[in-house]
Amino acid sequence: MDITNADRLACSVHLSPDAQAVEIIDQTQLPNRTVLLRLTTLAQVYDAIRSLAVRGAPAIGICAGYAMYILALQKKDLPRERFLEALERDGEYLISSRPTAVNLAWAVKRMLRVAASTQGTAEDVTKQLYLESLAIHDEDIRMCRRIAEYGLSLVKPGDGILTHCNAGPLATSRYGTATGPIFLGKERGIDFHVFADETRPLLQGARLTSYELHKAGIDVTLICDNMASLVMRQGRVQAVFVGCDRIAANGDFANKIGTSGVAILAKYYGIPFYTLGPTSTIDMHCKSGSDITIEERDGEEIRSMWYAEPMAPAGVKCFNPAFDVTDHTLLTAIVTDRGIVYPPFAEGLKKIMEASTQEENNT
Ligand code: MRU
Repeated sequence: MDITNADRLACSVHLSPDAQAVEIIDQTQLPNRTVLLRLTTLAQVYDAIRSLAVRGAPAIGICAGYAMYILALQKKDLPRERFLEALERDGEYLISSRPTAVNLAWAVKRMLRVAASTQGTAEDVTKQLYLESLAIHDEDIRMCRRIAEYGLSLVKPGDGILTHCNAGPLATSRYGTATGPIFLGKERGIDFHVFADETRPLLQGARLTSYELHKAGIDVTLICDNMASLVMRQGRVQAVFVGCDRIAANGDFANKIGTSGVAILAKYYGIPFYTLGPTSTIDMHCKSGSDITIEERDGEEIRSMWYAEPMAPAGVKCFNPAFDVTDHTLLTAIVTDRGIVYPPFAEGLKKIMEASTQEENNT
């Protein structure tokens, strides 16, 4: 699959045409306004990730890759050792912006590894980092396409598909992960009916998923999170497709808060439940979901953020975990760019990750 600069520029995160900044579509302003932000400083990138202006595990990884290149470019006249030290500090700070999605740390560490192993001056290293940041983006475009193909093989024309949060083009590249089969199906004249959970408290399902699908002419119905059980009971859902922020070695995975509840409902109603994600989301260092750090966010996001007036009394205690862990026993399969992994997940994930490392060593 040939990737052109036009393909990259069409993504919600890309390098600016002058290659001096990371450009992102500000996802906090959608669906009402499409605003392109130009990020050039470490603080701007940190804030964009932290505030969810750029969000979705793969998109955060792509953004971090480009940011590391831009930050390197700004210090390319430093002596090599000082340059590498400063870049490492920047990377650590970026990683601290959000803890759950592994793609952020994965992309930063990959850029730092390339920096350390490239011979020559800071300028030579920077040139290599430019190529690496594009490689991270291009790989994601290809991975999404392969995930879409695999996912499409799991459903039939006319099926009802329920999704939670947003794992579409805005959160990744082009097709998305969980919505990949739906967009690819549309291209091939295969129609599905999608139920998009609104996804409290930050409404990624309402603001982003229903926006992306509706804009593409896909049959989508927005529901409140507490309606999933009803539409499942009515027989209107034949499969659940969700994204993932980190998949542990045993198949447990973290995704947007509420995902594990949907998985429990799907099990109850006998509906296949799939998570779809690139191999960059698999973290073999996490043995199980208990090793995944769950980000906790400001309670104001629940109390007042999306309302003209607060919807809860001032000062009321709020608990606002941004993600939850779905137990692997609730999962029918994990759909990756390297194939569909069925239980036992520990064995299947080990096999695809070993094959991926082998391939990387050969290139
Ligand atoms: O807090 P967010 O909006 O970044 O959470 C995103 C999700 O949970 C997505 O489902 C996940 O990152 C996969 S995106 C392909």
